[in-house]
Amino acid sequence: LAGFVLAGAKSTRLAMESFDEARMRRAIETKRDGAALHASDWEAMIPAYLSARIGDDQMAAMLMAAVWRGLTLDESAALTKAMVESGETIAFPPGTFVVDKHSSGGVSDIVSLVAVPLVAACGARVAKLSGRALGHTGGTIDKLETISGVRTALSRDEFVAQVERVGCAIAAQSDRIVPADKRLYALRDRTGTVPCVGLIVASIVSKKIAGGAHAFVFDVKCGRGAFLRDSEAACSLARELVAVAGRFGRPARALVTDMDEPLGHAVGTGIEVIEARDFLRGPARDERVRALALRVAGEMLSLAGIASPEAAASRALDSGAAYDKLVEMIEAQGGSREALEAMTHPLNAARATAPRDGYVTEIDATGLGNLARTLSEREPTAGIVTAVRAGDRVERGSLLATAYGSAAAAAPLAAAFTVGDQKPEPRPLVYDAIA
Ligand code: URA
Repeated sequence: LAGFVLAGAKSTRLAMESFDEARMRRAIETKRDGAALHASDWEAMIPAYLSARIGDDQMAAMLMAAVWRGLTLDESAALTKAMVESGETIAFPPGTFVVDKHSSGGVSDIVSLVAVPLVAACGARVAKLSGRALGHTGGTIDKLETISGVRTALSRDEFVAQVERVGCAIAAQSDRIVPADKRLYALRDRTGTVPCVGLIVASIVSKKIAGGAHAFVFDVKCGRGAFLRDSEAACSLARELVAVAGRFGRPARALVTDMDEPLGHAVGTGIEVIEARDFLRGPARDERVRALALRVAGEMLSLAGIASPEAAASRALDSGAAYDKLVEMIEAQGGSREALEAMTHPLNAARATAPRDGYVTEIDATGLGNLARTLSEREPTAGIVTAVRAGDRVERGSLLATAYGSAAAAAPLAAAFTVGDQKPEPRPLVYDAIA
């Protein structure tokens, strides 16, 4: 954590006695009244909470005050530092430069499964600690675990050694990494205090710093299928992620990208692995997935100092080197090429068709994410494959999407699509880029 700088905090430093209920009450009152807390308060509060010197009641009040009043950048950085220090951190050997990427959560978001091997195939090292599904959004760990034999619970040593040997690894975050986030996130979930830019920044950046990478790309999703629907909030999250990572001496970039409809066509867990596999194997590739995967990979390669990054990524994709790297990573984690290539969706299917002629005006990504989650909880490769994008012209009876799995049904699937007379305005894929 050397290099951590607190820039001129206009904050109120509370008395330096050990952090107890009385000091926490004063801290809550300070935040409630709109002032910023001093770094030392955040740094003392987190260990006090983890060691039960202050309880959930006071921490919940503090979180709600943070939601209402917001956190300054100094406060987010101080909270991030305290959270990193709550657990173990991973370190790579000197001379090994490692990049990582993080998505704020989306539907049919296969970018991690594509970009991680793609970047490694270009010669950069990628170390990715991932999470599980959150709400309607998919989790990369749940997806990887649908490949027979694949292990995601790697020890610190296994993780570091695989990144050195293969060039990339995707592992589940252990409970020993940022334990404060696990406790705080569960409390935020219970108390309606998730939507606060400063708290989200501390939660995400602390896990990235503890994961040991030296530079990060953040893919901040925005739109109806994202946690942040509003582009202004997404841009401010993107700016703060980059700024707080910078306080720890980690160069970072953030892209604010569209999540108004699913990114790819497959929605689920194993079914998204199948889509990522087929995308990397080619030759047919969805244009929207290709554009975002190359952009994210390009930013990661640029941070790793690789020349002509997007051209290098494009070559690695088209030559099949990225697919071979995916297979190598899967084999290193206990899976096999045969298991990956044998994956297929269940036979039982239900089809949703257009009720009339017109344009697809809206695709409810959140609804599809929830439906796919229910399906894939029963069978790992069950889920949904969409056949259209917003703006597509359809005729009555045209296929909109297919649900696969024993519980597949057409009516709830059809409800996720709106067909109207007016062709919707095309939306950009990338709204903003912050370096
Ligand atoms: N994802 C995280 O990891 N943390 C948050 O607070 C929100 C999304």
